Parts: sequence; C-alpha cells; structure tokens
Amino acid sequence: MFNRKASKPKSKSDQIIEAIALKPGLNIADIGAGGGYFSLRFAEIVGEEGKVYATDTNPEFLEFIKNAAKEKGLDNIIPTLSIEDRLNLPEKSLDFIFIRNVTHHIPNRIKYFRNLKDFLKLDGKIIIIEYKKGKFFTFRGIFGHDVPKEIITREMEKAGYLLEKEFDFLPEQHFTIYSKQ
Ligand SMILES: C[S@@+](CC[C@H](N)C(=O)[O-])C[C@H]1O[C@@H](n2cnc3c(N)ncnc32)[C@H](O)[C@@H]1O
Repeated sequence: MFNRKASKPKSKSDQIIEAIALKPGLNIADIGAGGGYFSLRFAEIVGEEGKVYATDTNPEFLEFIKNAAKEKGLDNIIPTLSIEDRLNLPEKSLDFIFIRNVTHHIPNRIKYFRNLKDFLKLDGKIIIIEYKKGKFFTFRGIFGHDVPKEIITREMEKAGYLLEKEFDFLPEQHFTIYSKQ
C-alpha cells in the first residue's frame, strides 16, 4: 500500500530523487521505510559502493523489503529494525537520512532528531518530507497525520540543525533538508 501511494504521480518521487541529488557510493538511511519504495530506488543510484539502510519498527515491512531487494538483485540494502527511538545504524557513516511521512509517528521528536546526529558524517544531511494539514473531512484533516513545516524546522533547530533547502513542489507535503549546525 505504501509503495502504491509513493509511486503515484502526485507523490512526485522522480522530482524528490532529483532534488536530493544522491550519487553513487553514498550511504543513506530510509527511516520508516515502509514498503521500501524509496529504499529500492536509492539502492539503484548508490550502486555497489554505496549502502541503503532501510529502517523500520515493523519487522514484516523489513522482510518485504529484503525479498524485494533480492528479486531486483540489489545487495546494497540493509534492512535494520529500530525499536521505538533506538536505531540500529553505524555511527558517523551516513551522507543522508531520509524520513518521509514518518515524523507524525515519532513522540519525542527533538530528542529523536538530536540522536540522529550520531549516525551522520560531518557534512551529512537530514531530509524530511511530512504531510501538511489535510482538508476538512479528509482522513488527515480528521486524524491529523501531519506536522506543520514550521514545527519541524523549529524542532530541528532545537536539536542542532540548520534549514539548508526547501522545496515546494509537493501538493500534500512539505520537503526540507537540514545540515548539522
Ligand atoms: C506512512 S509510512 C511511510 C513509509 C515510507 N516512508 C514511504 O514514504 O512510503 C510510515 C512508516 O513509518 C514506520 N514507523 C513508525 N514509527 C517509526 C519509528 N519510530 N521509527 C521508524 N519507523 C517508524 C511505520 O512502520 C511505517 O512503515
């Protein structure tokens, strides 16, 4: 279901990937990877020299991603289980951390964001895509699966990051990129 949604034209996944400018040999973690739509696409870009850590709290999703990677012959995807805010990632190793449609699930975000620094290289970046508020009488309007951009940016600043870039081509989400302060 997540992959079906991610591949829809309004998700503009090609534009997202272009904006990130991921390159062969880089390492990226996809936190809250779901069905792995982006992990699989990242793996094709970073190639044999790079790594994609597909991270989720749901082991069934990780199993799904493992099988999908095998089917596509991609052996640079490393599924890693995280338990609440405990991430199982190598320290100081990541060029990017990608978090799409996940931050509304994270309870103590400032602490969570601060911890992410341990896994980034010195010039590593965090990419956050999150839903804007949904219209009245829509699922997101009623159940609030969103976090406003201003809140994310403020929380990221408190956690020790600087807003470096933002893109406004997504109809339903905001899209920001942060570097370490
Ligand atoms: C709406 S889905 C987004 C999936 C994917 N990022 C995408 O864009 O297609 C949210 C995902 O976040 C995962 N998740 C929820 N809380 C999490 C946490 N604390 N750490 C890591 N993943 C989490 C869920 O299991 C689910 O796979």
